[in-house]
Amino acid sequence: MTITLVGHGYVGLVSACVFADLGNTVYVIGRNQEKLDRLKSGDPIIYEPGLEELLKKNLSAKRLIFTTSYKEAIPSSEVVMIGVGTPPTETGEADLTSVLAVATEIGKNLGPHYTVVSCKSTVPVGTNRKIEEVISKLKSPQASFEVASCPEFLREGTALNDTFQPDRIVIGSDSQKAINVLLKLHEPLEGERVVVGLESAEIIKYASNSILSTKISFANLISFICEKTGADVEEVLQGVGLDKRIGRLFLYPGTGYGGSCFPKDVLALINTGSSFDVDMTLLKSVDTINKQAQALFAEKIITNAPGKNIGVWGLAFKPNTDDVRFAPALHVIKTLLDNGFSVTAYDPEGMDNTRAILGDAISYAQSPFDAVDSKDALVIFTDWNEFKQIDLAKVKSLLKQPYIFDGRNMYEPAKMAEAGFHYFSIGRKHT
Ligand code: UDX
Repeated sequence: MTITLVGHGYVGLVSACVFADLGNTVYVIGRNQEKLDRLKSGDPIIYEPGLEELLKKNLSAKRLIFTTSYKEAIPSSEVVMIGVGTPPTETGEADLTSVLAVATEIGKNLGPHYTVVSCKSTVPVGTNRKIEEVISKLKSPQASFEVASCPEFLREGTALNDTFQPDRIVIGSDSQKAINVLLKLHEPLEGERVVVGLESAEIIKYASNSILSTKISFANLISFICEKTGADVEEVLQGVGLDKRIGRLFLYPGTGYGGSCFPKDVLALINTGSSFDVDMTLLKSVDTINKQAQALFAEKIITNAPGKNIGVWGLAFKPNTDDVRFAPALHVIKTLLDNGFSVTAYDPEGMDNTRAILGDAISYAQSPFDAVDSKDALVIFTDWNEFKQIDLAKVKSLLKQPYIFDGRNMYEPAKMAEAGFHYFSIGRKHT
């Protein structure tokens, strides 16, 4: 098939590389020529394990074409997928400006045949019908099209695996013809097929991200109680999560969820529900608890750190990504800076993106050891593999004071006490 992906962020670029790898010809439309030139040269711009290799492989096979031109890509495409951003507005609504601008360009350029226009961006219920309206008004009389929602569930850091082997592929449309085209496109991929109506598909994506966020906030809420009562949150959630109806996944407390999806999608679903007069108290609490998790971690550091010169490990919102959007680390670091702390940070991939936001308000270290050298304490935000079995004796010898604040519960409290650390983590018993 010949298809087009509009957008080359996580969703657009990963999907484009995967569909190209399956033998399709894939156009990728972007707006920024400099970024497109980097992509054409095999630089994926974002850090995602395995993506660079897949990009290079499919560029040299000439199955990936990067362009700014809708005219070049759309007329020959059987499927056009929209994968552009839907950032939150100030009130938490999803901003559909880019999605609708893309729909306009698609409408103007549809070829004189049948095309399926499928939205992969996370968009509030009703958006695909708006896209349909926009395109209908602009398309040439010879062009026919139908819309379908095909939400993307990939996680950063494991995006290729999630796309090749998803748990499910959701296709929502009123049209069996459009559904059949998308079923054919996704045929080689694993996962259950969930074929539903347009509105259901749109809500499935928000409901999935919201329940995962709810599990995380629930874990954080239980950690707050554990800290006050002498219980250990890891023991508690182990005991809870072994119930198959509940499960252990996404029940890990920490400094709250971040990234480009959960924070904005929870707010967007609150907005959608409220606009239909549905009481959204549950998700409002999920968002509040997430903010509390960050505030309490900052407070723990401010209250207990023996000095204000600290080293930080981890800036990205989770391991295996360079993404720092809505990263708890950045939020907590800002609070610490406001409280007179000075910060030296190390992250294997997230330092360039952090520099673009925090500039020289903090210092950047070359290695985890550089970050802790002569510091009053170490603060950990991201559980990168390289921190898991790091030489803690060396860390202790470099730190001015043996204090560690661990926002990811990476180490055993008893062992840390034995090693002579003042170790603070999330919701656990400390000796
Ligand atoms: C998420 C969804 O998982 C994915 O299906 C969707 O397509 C996009 O949003 P992503 O944002 O890449 O993916 O990361 P994810 O692994 O889900 O983690 C999100 C945040 O939750 C991270 O900040 C992570 O540290 C945090 N988290 C996750 C916890 O604090 N505890 C957990 O138990 C799990």
